[in-house]
Amino acid sequence: MGHRPYIVGNWKMNGTRNSLAEARAIDRVASKWPQVRVGIAPPHTLIHAMRDAVDSIDVGGQDCHSETDGAYTGDISAAMLKDAGASFAILGHSERRQYHGETNPQVKAKCEAALGAGLSVILCVGETEEQRDSGEAESTVSGQLTSCLPEIAVEEEGESVSARLAIAYEPIWAIGTGRVPSLDEIKAMHASIRAKLVDTFGENGNEVRILYGGSVKADNALEILSCDEVGGALVGGASLTNESFGAIIIAAA
Ligand code: G3H
Repeated sequence: MGHRPYIVGNWKMNGTRNSLAEARAIDRVASKWPQVRVGIAPPHTLIHAMRDAVDSIDVGGQDCHSETDGAYTGDISAAMLKDAGASFAILGHSERRQYHGETNPQVKAKCEAALGAGLSVILCVGETEEQRDSGEAESTVSGQLTSCLPEIAVEEEGESVSARLAIAYEPIWAIGTGRVPSLDEIKAMHASIRAKLVDTFGENGNEVRILYGGSVKADNALEILSCDEVGGALVGGASLTNESFGAIIIAAA
């Protein structure tokens, strides 16, 4: 869609300050392939130090609260993410939905809070294996989008807010399993998501990136990223080392 491919690593609950050496190595690869946009979402504890340690990659958070401040023990706000040096937030990841009971309305509120704070957002959607097997994959994802897409003014003071929004299609059954949908299934889902975005945001819906996530590795990245509608990848396990994440960045170039 005229975008640089966007390769984002979600480090999940992995990484301590020792891991910054790996981030620096990834940063060196990213600096050599400027045609690829690269991001890493480390645990919140590492955002500030990682922002200081890297030059060529975006640093982001893996969640934020929908409120700006208050008595929410253990949570952090979008403004806090930004203050720590984050430029984006991954929101609505299936692990947040599964382990923290996040609902679609909560995810929508978080998206609106993050965009309002000036962050970019990667909104995660995806079906379970049962939903895929019963032919409900596209309707499930469409329903998630209906409930989670932020109600935003698509233009704010000349800035297109939709350009700060990305959708990550992550089939739940593909996360961390080594299994991936067929290319035809990926293409069909991405086309369905694009149609929904245009339906919701009009022409601005074409600016929203659509990433694929779920068992993206160095050896399948090129094939997945070659699909027209795939604007990048959200990578979990394979983003933790430069050996594998660097290879994915190069595959995207
Ligand atoms: O956010 C990333 C996804 O959950 C994918 O994780 O690459 O380990 O399957 P994975």
